[in-house]
Amino acid sequence: MQNKICVITGANSGIGFYTALALAKKGAKIVMVCRNDQKAEAAKKDIIDQTQNDKIEIFLADFASIAETKSVAKEVAAKYPVIDVLINNAGFIAKKYREITIDGLEKTFAVNHMGYFVFTHGLLDAVKAAPQGRIINVSSEAHKFVRKVDLTNLQLTRGYSSLKAYGISKLCNIWFTQELARRLEGSGITVNAVHPGAVSTNFGLDSVPIFETLLKLGRRFLLTAEQGAQTSIFLATNPEVRHITGEYFSKSQIKAVSRDARDDAKAKKLWQLSLDIAGLI
Ligand SMILES: NC(=O)c1ccc[n+]([C@@H]2O[C@H](COP(=O)([O-])OP(=O)(O)OC[C@H]3O[C@@H](n4cnc5c(N)ncnc54)[C@H](OP(=O)(O)O)[C@@H]3O)[C@@H](O)[C@H]2O)c1
Repeated sequence: MQNKICVITGANSGIGFYTALALAKKGAKIVMVCRNDQKAEAAKKDIIDQTQNDKIEIFLADFASIAETKSVAKEVAAKYPVIDVLINNAGFIAKKYREITIDGLEKTFAVNHMGYFVFTHGLLDAVKAAPQGRIINVSSEAHKFVRKVDLTNLQLTRGYSSLKAYGISKLCNIWFTQELARRLEGSGITVNAVHPGAVSTNFGLDSVPIFETLLKLGRRFLLTAEQGAQTSIFLATNPEVRHITGEYFSKSQIKAVSRDARDDAKAKKLWQLSLDIAGLI
């Protein structure tokens, strides 16, 4: 990984932080895309202290905004016209109530799906320019919480719950992974999705009370963030997976996805809807 360019979103904490740390240890140049300057600077310092690798750069963006996501992708691509590894990792679960973004989208869908979709679009030429680009989308087993998802109600204007919104967004990560992999066939780029495990991070601590309580009670049974980063690190670095694309991995192995997630027609439709929402051609 010496001097390879690895772009990681949400790299200031949890799984993203330990992914960045491991790749920095291997000598990669790390581009951290975070929303909070102070948290990002603290994480950068920690990575440099632990690895003595100072090739770490921060870009700031809130993935809840399509304009900010496009703009940060443009900045990163201008500075790094060749990107070896892109890890879409930043994720969010809402509190009880439905939140709407500046673009009028349900926030979980906006951050967790549109964030990945728009950011990846902005960096795609740079990933294509790498000898063997890899894209990794951090999804979740939570994609199995939802069934028969209605693509006309992705914003959950009907029947909202934050767990449902989260499940849909993580299902979208898998549909996006599969459709992008199909579109990139023959390019040499691989695109895979990851379930990191049930991991003790900041995730969900400020969300639905029941989820928060379960997380606190079950903390000692959860993986550490370092353990949770292992599948992302494996997909970013392991030569054995250089030809595997369009798959869903957990514990560094291919795993089955839900029945909904195998619906290619929905994956295609989501792609078109996402292009329209983002105003991309
Ligand atoms: N923890 C688990 O058990 C688990 C299980 C399955 C999947 N996952 C997935 O793993 C990924 C990483 O989560 P984690 O567990 O490591 O949680 P985490 O420690 O809370 O990290 C989430 C990261 O995403 C960033 N983020 C959230 N909203 C953002 C936004 N609007 N714009 C930019 N960045 C934003 C956070 O930034 P701030 O620090 O500024 O908030 C943080 O850096 C997520 O995609 C999550 O869905 C986690």
